[in-house]
Amino acid sequence: MTNDPLASQPAPTGASAGNADGPENGAKVQVSLRINGNDYRIRIDPRTTLLDCIRETVALTGTKKGCDHGQCGACTVHVNGRRVVSCLTLALLHDGDEITTIEGLGTPDAMHPMQAAFVACDGYQCGYCTSGQIMSAVALLKEPCGPDDASVKELMSGNICRCGAYPGIVAAIQHVRKH
Ligand code: FES
Ligand code: FES
Repeated sequence: MTNDPLASQPAPTGASAGNADGPENGAKVQVSLRINGNDYRIRIDPRTTLLDCIRETVALTGTKKGCDHGQCGACTVHVNGRRVVSCLTLALLHDGDEITTIEGLGTPDAMHPMQAAFVACDGYQCGYCTSGQIMSAVALLKEPCGPDDASVKELMSGNICRCGAYPGIVAAIQHVRKH
């Protein structure tokens, strides 16, 4: 007889103790991602988020990590043309998908019209949220959205700006929509 409350519980075995093929032992999976028109065949920990894969493995750091919990929109990218918060999805789920980050949208010398509008309309201050804002804004152009500012604000509500640059952001989006 023992007073140890754990004495009757079986010792951990199998996967719960660390399977030889499990990620605990560093097993990696191969994934093929097409990012901004370039093909990347990479080996990653299967638990890697798309955000961490883009930033840490592929070294495209224009996509930002804000909350890492799907609440701020800083990590927004396009997957097959639709916006996705990349911190909430695993990279291995996107094998073969077409991914676009802010680096694939335009360059300083040849900006996407939305990038140019953000500059012209003062749609940013510190810039940390800006790549996510722009990726969301470009995706919004192909989504059902009413013509007024309130409709734009509603569809952009997943993108937080701690600097409060919202008036400029809405103005930039409306500028692109009307021209
Ligand atoms: Fe992904 Fe905030 S970092 S939503
Ligand atoms: Fe600073 Fe949006 S511009 S957080």
